[in-house]
Amino acid sequence: MKNVLLVGAGNLGRRHLQSLKNSRYPIRIFVVEPFDEARSLAKTAFDQTASSQPEKAVSFHRALDDIDQKIDIVIDATPATGRLDVFKRALGLGAKDLVLEKVAFNSINDIDQAVALIEQNAACAWVNCPRRLNPFYIQLRRVLEKETIDRFEIVGENFGMACNSIHFIDLFSFLAGRHAYDVTLDEVQSIASSKRSNYIEFFGTATGAFESGPEFKIDCRETQNGVSFDIRIVTPLNEYRIDEINGCVKIIDRNGKYEIRDFRQPYQSELTGPLVDAIIETRQCGLTAFAESMALHRPFINAAYELYASKYEENDMKMVPIT
Ligand SMILES: NC(=O)c1ccc[n+]([C@@H]2O[C@H](COP(=O)([O-])OP(=O)(O)OC[C@H]3O[C@@H](n4cnc5c(N)ncnc54)[C@H](O)[C@@H]3O)[C@@H](O)[C@H]2O)c1
Repeated sequence: MKNVLLVGAGNLGRRHLQSLKNSRYPIRIFVVEPFDEARSLAKTAFDQTASSQPEKAVSFHRALDDIDQKIDIVIDATPATGRLDVFKRALGLGAKDLVLEKVAFNSINDIDQAVALIEQNAACAWVNCPRRLNPFYIQLRRVLEKETIDRFEIVGENFGMACNSIHFIDLFSFLAGRHAYDVTLDEVQSIASSKRSNYIEFFGTATGAFESGPEFKIDCRETQNGVSFDIRIVTPLNEYRIDEINGCVKIIDRNGKYEIRDFRQPYQSELTGPLVDAIIETRQCGLTAFAESMALHRPFINAAYELYASKYEENDMKMVPIT
């Protein structure tokens, strides 16, 4: 029987836990969460989740020090700052397969250390950029293989550019099949406090390009409105305008003729169980593999740190407080 450790049972960790109840295997789940209220909310959500799958043994703990069992699989749903410590301790518990929340690491030093640790421990890891698991994007990737992508654009308001750009860069990489890119944050106009305390957000424009194309732009305005954003993909044949919030894509051809199709993004509470099942069965899953994700993190984290350090102060870790 596999031992699965969930570290951090906050807003997202709770959803991971619900989904673990629907794993096809009778796994043992260890949940580590220091805050009583978060632990209690997670337990309630788990108890209330319906499942016809094998019973799970679940236990709740305040600290990683309380775990005295060998761990097989870790899901790390803590914030990015402090993740390297969780990562080291998870490897120390014997974990060979790790699923990390994005932003995986918010400093290049942490990325370097994590890459070395994965190799030393012969472990596998993935970063949770879950659009790669969405049948809509998997299908779109197949369609785009037959076209040349000229441009990606994300334009919107209040969508958390600093914390969420990695999601979009990951999506561009997935759709274009490219990993190496450059990005500039010269047109970021403001750095603001994030809704999460001790973290920051950017407003303005990030521009970049993958090696031998396509180019991309991520543009986020600060307004009094809610969160909104549109994803635009331009090819010589079509323009794809994706509205994730309303779950539809408008495909416009060169003559202006268009069709609209609906889709949905599965909830995290539907994804983690099947993901863990895939890891148990094959030691593979549809999320971004660690080395690839680190290659996608590096240019953005580097640019974000340079911007942050130019406005505030440098730090030895070269850490930018985004999560
Ligand atoms: N993949 C996605 O689509 C997606 C969506 C939302 C959030 N996230 C990411 O997930 C992470 C968590 O986000 P959230 O919204 O759940 O935050 P949150 O603050 O609600 O939850 C984080 C939890 O981790 C706990 N924690 C912190 N340090 C810990 C430690 N050392 N050991 C055990 N628990 C610890 C905190 O007590 C907290 O309850 C962030 O990095 C965020 O960016 C990813």
